[in-house]
Amino acid sequence: MRKMLAVVVSHVFSGVAQKPGLRGLLASLNFSNDVTCDIKKCDLYRLEEGPPTSTVLTRAEALKYYRTMQVIRRMEMKSDQLYKQKFIRGFCHLCDGQEACCVGLEAGINPTDHIITSYRAHGFCYTRGLSVKSILTELTGRQEGCAKGKGGSMHMYGKHFYGGNGIVGAQGQLAEAYNISALWKLPCVFICENNRYGMGTSIERSSASTEYYKRGFFIPGLRVNGMDILSVREATKFAADHCRSGKGPILMELQTYRYHGHSMSDPGISYRTREEVRDMRSKSDPIMLLRERMINNNLSNVEELKEIDADVKKEVEEAAQFATTAPEPPLEELAHHIYYQNPPFEVRGTNKWIKYMSFS
Ligand SMILES: *[C@@H]1O[C@H](CO)[C@@H](O)[C@H](O)[C@H]1NC(C)=O
Ligand SMILES: *[C@@H]1O[C@H](CO)[C@@H](O)[C@H](O)[C@H]1NC(C)=O
Repeated sequence: MRKMLAVVVSHVFSGVAQKPGLRGLLASLNFSNDVTCDIKKCDLYRLEEGPPTSTVLTRAEALKYYRTMQVIRRMEMKSDQLYKQKFIRGFCHLCDGQEACCVGLEAGINPTDHIITSYRAHGFCYTRGLSVKSILTELTGRQEGCAKGKGGSMHMYGKHFYGGNGIVGAQGQLAEAYNISALWKLPCVFICENNRYGMGTSIERSSASTEYYKRGFFIPGLRVNGMDILSVREATKFAADHCRSGKGPILMELQTYRYHGHSMSDPGISYRTREEVRDMRSKSDPIMLLRERMINNNLSNVEELKEIDADVKKEVEEAAQFATTAPEPPLEELAHHIYYQNPPFEVRGTNKWIKYMSFS
């Protein structure tokens, strides 16, 4: 049996393949089937060898990654809009800019592996198989959302996916988890999505050591270009193999960037310059990098990618339309679904809600 893996993402495909029409079929004759790409060498800690520095990207994979990243980007843009229109309330953390992390991670593990994340998890929700519709509908707090409208941005769940925990890499707990997982040689990949800012503080202003991949101390680590989906994919495969072969946990730092502020209340420009954000967008954007790779290597062309973009736009628009019109959960069910199995719920101090006690 393949060893099951737990992937813990701290602060860190359901891309349906298009049926090729006749046009697509003719076009695909002119495209390459695959291409070998160079990727940046990872920085290593307590490892003799690291992930490969080149990998094969097939046309089918490239199209799938491109579409998945575009869906996530558009979904986040739409969430931003819905928030401003007050359809979405409460905490909401967007992951645009970080798309290569979740899509690359998913491409490097099996659907049966487990992913546990902190918040900023909408992208992971999608790569784990939840639909855009169920995610946006959860964000607007409607009954048909993936957590029945009761989890919101920070608490979404799917198969083998435990998403949106509140505390990011809490220093004490993290040290304890490193300790016990190394001691018991647990097959666990710890991931630090390093987007350079903890809420409104740059890592340089808050951390004595910003080499997060070394901070597992006794756990080997990798520092990865988190803006390149292929780097993330290869590093993830490497890390997963490491765990599956019984060597215990491993730590991956994905160097990435968030375009949005920390949450919706943060415009994201008081602690960093507009130029910095603009610079990242124009030089390191993960979607742009993949797109260039695809076009330069004949894996696709501008027209085909435009068609995908239009299709993605339509999917997200339709999902948003549903998310803003679907019914909210009934008030009587306020305290239902506290537990997965729905056992009766009675907690001291919650008398006010006892009449809504869970029994269904
Ligand atoms: C891309 O495809 C075109 C048309 O088939 C061909 O002329 C061109 O040489 C190819 N370029 C590369 C880099 O493979
Ligand atoms: C691991 O945890 C034990 C307590 O169970 C503690 O005594 C020990 O100092 C910890 N080791 C490290 C390296 O953190």
